[in-house]
Amino acid sequence: MKKQAIGVFDSGVGGVSIWKEITTLLPFEDTIYLADSKNAPYGQKSKKKILEFSIKNTELLIDKGCKIIVVACNTATTNAISFLRQNYDIPFIGIEPAIKPAALQTTTNAIGILATKGTLSSELFHATSKKFTKGIRVIEQIGEGLVPLIEAGKIDTPEMTSLLKKYLDPMLVANVDAIVLGCSHYPFLIPHIKKIIGSNIRIIDSGEAVAKQTKTVLEQHDLLNPLKIVPRHLLYSNTSVATLNLLLNSSKEVYKIQKLDF
Ligand code: DGL
Repeated sequence: MKKQAIGVFDSGVGGVSIWKEITTLLPFEDTIYLADSKNAPYGQKSKKKILEFSIKNTELLIDKGCKIIVVACNTATTNAISFLRQNYDIPFIGIEPAIKPAALQTTTNAIGILATKGTLSSELFHATSKKFTKGIRVIEQIGEGLVPLIEAGKIDTPEMTSLLKKYLDPMLVANVDAIVLGCSHYPFLIPHIKKIIGSNIRIIDSGEAVAKQTKTVLEQHDLLNPLKIVPRHLLYSNTSVATLNLLLNSSKEVYKIQKLDF
């Protein structure tokens, strides 16, 4: 089991931002990544659909022999991870918007959260937000339209800039000092977000924390790969592989991208 791969899934290419953190922190682990781009965006879908997709992805990763599954999608985590943990006998790591560090460190008493509708309307998000943001103004913003543009590889485009401006301006007006990226697709937008918000506002995403948690859980289950050799990384998309190729072209890892029907 120790030599089996870490499974990672997302509604599409966004989880590659998490995959990059995992492969950096755990350089000897094989990985299998599923980009369910055919069903993206999950963020506008019902909880029932999100659960259905999460089950399908989980079962495929288990069939491929994965030893742990990273749900590299805030929308799937907040809507489906408790079901997955109850029904499959394998450790799951999830990703949630990093509200806690933003709330603990704010000095303007205002923070912004950019996430999908599915995440912002989930019970898990509400519970976490209520717990950590007493007395803090939280500007929640649904990033509608951002994921389809990223999926299409249209990251550095005027369309993207104008959507981002529309979503970030109210946060600037509210004097936030931190913006939480509550969707694993959004780290690919950081350079563009910075151009709009300047350098005084912190951008917080959860990628590094997820990678650390993956390592901790592998250690706890005695599942770290003992082999110190170049790992195998397989990335599957159920639509075109063009955006995966684009997002990975600066990666130092040795990887293979394939189209797969799932
Ligand atoms: N990348 C996903 C997330 O972290 C979902 C984006 C979507 O499919 O709407 O929420």
